[in-house]
Amino acid sequence: MKILNFGSLNIDKVYQVDNFVRPGETISSKNLNFFCGGKGLNQSIALSKSGAEVWHAGAVGTGDGDFLIRQLQSAGVNTELIAVLEGKTGHAIIQKAKDGGNCILLFGGANQQITREMVDGVMDHFEKGDYLVLQNEISEIGYIMERAREKGMVLVFNPSPMDDKISTYPLEYVDYFLLNEIEAGDICGEQGSGEELLQKLSDKFPASKIVLTLGGDGSLYRDGQRILTQGIYKVPVADTTAAGDTFTGFLIGGLVQGLDAGEALDLAAKAAAIAVSRPGAAPSIPSREEVEAFKG
Ligand code: RIB
Repeated sequence: MKILNFGSLNIDKVYQVDNFVRPGETISSKNLNFFCGGKGLNQSIALSKSGAEVWHAGAVGTGDGDFLIRQLQSAGVNTELIAVLEGKTGHAIIQKAKDGGNCILLFGGANQQITREMVDGVMDHFEKGDYLVLQNEISEIGYIMERAREKGMVLVFNPSPMDDKISTYPLEYVDYFLLNEIEAGDICGEQGSGEELLQKLSDKFPASKIVLTLGGDGSLYRDGQRILTQGIYKVPVADTTAAGDTFTGFLIGGLVQGLDAGEALDLAAKAAAIAVSRPGAAPSIPSREEVEAFKG
């Protein structure tokens, strides 16, 4: 069984600030770092570091995206399905505040140049029972979902970042949703407590397994009538960027490698805790050995 992650690759330009810039305001940044990022790339690295075998499909621009591909390769991800296209690689302008929180401005670049022809070429490499992991940072997500369904792949969807296009996707094909409260509220059409959102999502998508992340309150998992709760491991916060991606990668990686849902949730919570204790997106993702050794 293979895992295909069809997702974004970004250059993260991380500006250290005291407070986020407000409309009409000009502020100075105390520091600037460039990291590998993109929800797709981060999740591929987390999947691979969890011990799963993963193929990343997506696109970078000519000239400036090679280091993203090398970073995936050095984490053990298969990169044969990444296209190099005319134009710019996607990037993210990230303001990182003193408390480790962030806000992000995305430029899609090559991530938004994925075509149906490219999708068909990638899908030829996969078959029934293989996993497909998707986020919402590339073009043609709805078409990729249709193709995955035709093939009988297991579809994992992290609807992040949320936008209007998501309501046009065939979400009834999704086998696993991994999402936060805001995303869940947008999909359900109204906000609510974690338990209420979990109920609404499972009423709307009765065949789907749902993992609802609740920030500092941990996460909830629902599979049919079974509900599991998972707390967080508290650590000093350095940078929250990619903590959610790390959680997603280790959770799905754990499930694919035969862990039950409770074990996979705990593995994912530990991995995410280590990631928030370190700076950067992809560079903050720990190895499976580090996660296993983590005592919390
Ligand atoms: O989830 C974190 C990621 O979101 C960053 O790496 C940035 O590139 C954006 O895609």
